[in-house]
Amino acid sequence: MNLFPELKKKYTKDSLSAREAQRMAEFIAFGPVIFQTARIMAKWGILDMLRNSDSGMTIAEVAEKASISVYAAKCLLEASLCIGIVLVNDNTDRFTLSKTGWFLINDPATKVNIDFNHDVNYLGWFNLEESLQQGKPIGLKTLGDWPTVYEGLSSLPKHIQDSWFGFDHFYSDNSFDTALKIVFADKPRTLLDVGGNTGRWALRCVEHDKDVNVTILDLPQQIGMMKENIKGHTGAERIEGLGVNLLDENSPLPTDKKFEAIWMSQFLDCFSEEQIVGILRRASKMMDNDSRLYIMETLWDRQKYEPAALCLTLTSLYFTAIANGNSKMYHSEDMERLIENAGLEIETIHDFIGQGHSIIVCKLK
Ligand SMILES: C[S@@+](CC[C@H](N)C(=O)[O-])C[C@H]1O[C@@H](n2cnc3c(N)ncnc32)[C@H](O)[C@@H]1O
Repeated sequence: MNLFPELKKKYTKDSLSAREAQRMAEFIAFGPVIFQTARIMAKWGILDMLRNSDSGMTIAEVAEKASISVYAAKCLLEASLCIGIVLVNDNTDRFTLSKTGWFLINDPATKVNIDFNHDVNYLGWFNLEESLQQGKPIGLKTLGDWPTVYEGLSSLPKHIQDSWFGFDHFYSDNSFDTALKIVFADKPRTLLDVGGNTGRWALRCVEHDKDVNVTILDLPQQIGMMKENIKGHTGAERIEGLGVNLLDENSPLPTDKKFEAIWMSQFLDCFSEEQIVGILRRASKMMDNDSRLYIMETLWDRQKYEPAALCLTLTSLYFTAIANGNSKMYHSEDMERLIENAGLEIETIHDFIGQGHSIIVCKLK
């Protein structure tokens, strides 16, 4: 299996001592409560308090400042100590923030991941086992009654919707500046944004280039949300929406029209291997020899830093239990094979964009 260097270092040999490995096993055994403890310590502002205190805080001081019982403060702080998010001074009994605790409150990626896991996935993880067995998102019933999460996005309760979009946007937004340079190096006049969601990329495109016209293709429910979202923004009149369910073979696609650029950002990971080949074949019908297809994905094996690969392979299981039951964050070798099976050729791959995206540029064979 091909892996970028940092991942190879971590994943091809066992570097833990026996004691560290045993601790890690217990970390996994208590995973759900470790997650909840850390989340509450951040949500109740206790980690912030500790960071802001000059010489740390005692249990009684934390209880008073957070308006919780001494019992609650004691349970949280003792557990936080053992999971490594706070430290204690054994002379003064004062607690301070550890480096891991610092990341919990200051790293934006960690924050969106915690919200996403708590609000969107937490209850559904309980159904991961059946979801894997059946290839269906059995955990999705904890949010609502839809075939996939995408049909439900526009009707999720506000705080769950915020966490879903917060997760989705955080990753893609951070890549748009670099992506604009790559896509607009070829000066496309027409761009099809497949799975364009709320129109954030389309707005960046029309703002970046006054001559480009963008068509967003997404589920009909999302097109409604997108139209609301782009209203009043510069260039919104050059964005049109096309409500299509790409899983429905009878849905019309604009095959009469060729696009100079087709953009798929964090889109193909919403589909199974077989579905991806079908979608790419249909996309290729909207291309001519000068067209380019830009696939922006977080390929788990092409990450510079190991924690990113960890987040991505675990996000795959969100697709299993919640999103649709059959898609994932792909390894680049799988994605390359699917692109070739669809009759396309990879021209180049740009890595290390934003929070770990790659852009695969494809053309007709
Ligand atoms: C993970 S979001 C990515 C959104 C955006 N491109 C980005 O990079 O932030 C996937 C998008 O694909 C759309 N989508 C999922 N299944 C679809 C389908 N069967 N047909 C059309 N669009 C679909 C979803 O509605 C959603 O907007």
